[in-house]
Amino acid sequence: MKVIVTGGAGFIGSHIVDTLLAKGHEPFVIDNLCSGEKKNLPPSVPVFEADIVDGARISAIFDEVKPDWVCHQAAQMSVSRSMREPLFDAENNVMGLLNVFDNAARVGVKRIVFASSGGVLYGEMTTPAPEDSPKKPVSPYGISKWIGEQYLEFYARERGLQGVALRYSNVYGPRQNPHGEAGVVAIFCKAMLAGKAATVNGDGKYVRDYVHGRDVALANVAALETTMSASFTPINIGTGVGADVNEIASQLYRATQDYLKRRQSSVIVPECRHGESRAGDLRSNLVSPSRAALLLNWKPTIGLKEGIEQTVAWFAENQGL
Ligand SMILES: NC(=O)c1ccc[n+]([C@@H]2O[C@H](COP(=O)([O-])OP(=O)(O)OC[C@H]3O[C@@H](n4cnc5c(N)ncnc54)[C@H](O)[C@@H]3O)[C@@H](O)[C@H]2O)c1
Repeated sequence: MKVIVTGGAGFIGSHIVDTLLAKGHEPFVIDNLCSGEKKNLPPSVPVFEADIVDGARISAIFDEVKPDWVCHQAAQMSVSRSMREPLFDAENNVMGLLNVFDNAARVGVKRIVFASSGGVLYGEMTTPAPEDSPKKPVSPYGISKWIGEQYLEFYARERGLQGVALRYSNVYGPRQNPHGEAGVVAIFCKAMLAGKAATVNGDGKYVRDYVHGRDVALANVAALETTMSASFTPINIGTGVGADVNEIASQLYRATQDYLKRRQSSVIVPECRHGESRAGDLRSNLVSPSRAALLLNWKPTIGLKEGIEQTVAWFAENQGL
């Protein structure tokens, strides 16, 4: 099938492109490269360097490609930027999203899969949240993801396509951008490999559900391919298992030391240090993957230890260390 992947040059989007290619599909990427990079993609994949906010350009791309499916990953994805600039967030995550969904419906796309977020929809959860948990988005980013789901439900109901909203937990792995304020695995990896102490916010007892980017890509392709009865289906993508930041930091510390020792590197990794706690950080957030298992036959395949070792190796090899 022909598939437009918005945000396809980014972390999760580029793993989706790899999975689509492996399954014999034909991906086309729309990305403004604000955080994604062409080097994440095989050179054979067509990349339209375009902003989803630019309605005329997006319309022309949909006319040219005439895709069967759309996988919408492009977004403003910083919670703190959304707090400072709610208009910028809405411009990308609401108006940009509508440009994509509306053009998809216009050219007869049969299915749209949308990257939503379990973390920002469910809020504080000490046990894995099922999909029907109350929605309590507090940041403009959370609000715009929730609105995005409701627009997808509207297009699915009124325009005869199928919509699947995948509510990711905390995604980590190779190609994640280590420059933002999110993505603790990528940020710590970069610091440790450079011989700098990683800073754990507050007491580090912040529990999250870490799922590997390649597993999230498999979930996206399963959500595109699997026959579904409802016109709109929200599905959590996570492991249901929590790890706190202290545990992530110590696993990364061990994996980085092992990697450097094997490479006979002279870099010495200092112990992590604790900094100020960050206002508004949830203590615990987990999502239940039961519906994903039932409807998509999807289960996470990469455990945290293996995923962290792979991520350390990838950052070491791709950050010139
Ligand atoms: N990483 C996570 O833990 C996580 C968790 C929940 C949801 N999500 C969602 O998953 C999606 C992918 O996130 P990611 O972690 O791969 O981030 P990313 O920054 O690596 O990917 C986003 C991609 O979208 C592109 N992009 C951003 N704004 C654009 C615009 N206006 N027009 C065109 N392209 C644009 C970027 O250049 C980038 O390639 C996002 O929608 C994000 O909100 C991510």
